[in-house]
Amino acid sequence: MTNKIRGVNTICVHEGEVEDRQYKGAISPIFTTTAYAYHNEGDSPYPRYFNTPNQKQLSKKIARLEHAEAGLILGSGMAAVSCAILSVLKSGDHAVFQDQIYGGTRNFIKKELESFNIESDFVNLTDLASVEKLVKENTRLIYLETPSNPLLELVDLEAIANFAKQHNLISIIDNTFATPINQCPLDFGVDIVLHSATKYLGGHSDITAGAIATSEELMLPILLKARNFGGSLADQTVWLLERSMKTLNLRVKQQTYNAQLLAEYLEKQDWVEQVNYPGLVSHPQHQLAKSQMTGFGAMLSFRLEKNIDPLNFLNALELIKDVLSLGGVETTILSPAKTSHSLLTEAERKNQGIDNHLLRLSCGIEEVEDLIDDFEACIQKIR
Ligand SMILES: Cc1ncc(COP(=O)(O)O)c(C=O)c1O
Repeated sequence: MTNKIRGVNTICVHEGEVEDRQYKGAISPIFTTTAYAYHNEGDSPYPRYFNTPNQKQLSKKIARLEHAEAGLILGSGMAAVSCAILSVLKSGDHAVFQDQIYGGTRNFIKKELESFNIESDFVNLTDLASVEKLVKENTRLIYLETPSNPLLELVDLEAIANFAKQHNLISIIDNTFATPINQCPLDFGVDIVLHSATKYLGGHSDITAGAIATSEELMLPILLKARNFGGSLADQTVWLLERSMKTLNLRVKQQTYNAQLLAEYLEKQDWVEQVNYPGLVSHPQHQLAKSQMTGFGAMLSFRLEKNIDPLNFLNALELIKDVLSLGGVETTILSPAKTSHSLLTEAERKNQGIDNHLLRLSCGIEEVEDLIDDFEACIQKIR
């Protein structure tokens, strides 16, 4: 596609299409070969080099959506997380991580970075004065997730990007929850954006993938790291992800709309103690959300009232599935304490306000009335 300014739906549908030169079909052909001629000028395609026709083209779609120069599609969200982090850090370096991040990322930092002789600190990034105290001569990286998982706390993107520049740090954001439809962190000066494409980019709970978007300059070391670690995606799945991303904007808009209505509904229920959603006026950072998000996202969490048994509640829901993961077209719910944050210690969970009564809802595209009916029937059943 040209560099002309295009609408988001047009980019979702058309950017990064593989041209069907033979039959002139409307959709991308899949090139599944792992053995390409090497006499051509430039880089010969090879799946683990991340440069097959399908991989290269899809990388353009994620780059364009994230307002980046370069994109990369990887085998999982954790492949994106690990490659991005290790492209910046080397032995002897120090990094600052947001305390509230995806449990798997936290586990990677704690279990793997130490073995590379890399020091790390977890800190609340809303308090830049305490972050400043942690920055040392060998600090290279600041890593964030906003809105955070599972409490939907926000970090000020512009403030973090400025802080990073001031201290000569590279900033990385996991933008999985917001998606580029609701938030474009590079516009605020963040250096590298990454995704678990298993979630909204894939959107149908049937693909595991990851994505990174950044400048050409910062992408080069990421690509070299990715080639060494080998976490590439099969072209059949790359193709499926391209197909899924054609509806990204439509899906996420509907999911975001549903999330707002469900958050407002849940906030009024006597069986709910608290709702965390940046689109609610009661969210302590609602104004910040308005200033850096174009939509408030489709994830929310809520705390059940103490007398309600969380397991009975989850079992009594019928339409809303109690399953792992998020970002699909179907509405799903889970207990962060038992799933995404189960690898944290009890003390770490307590410190972050994650207990068995906290549930996380990933809003799908169903009619919101049907979802509310499901909650109503569930409560009647267990009371
Ligand atoms: C915010 C976030 N980042 C990264 C990941 C890791 O992604 P994947 O499971 O695709 O490796 C997840 C997975 O749940 C996630 O929720």
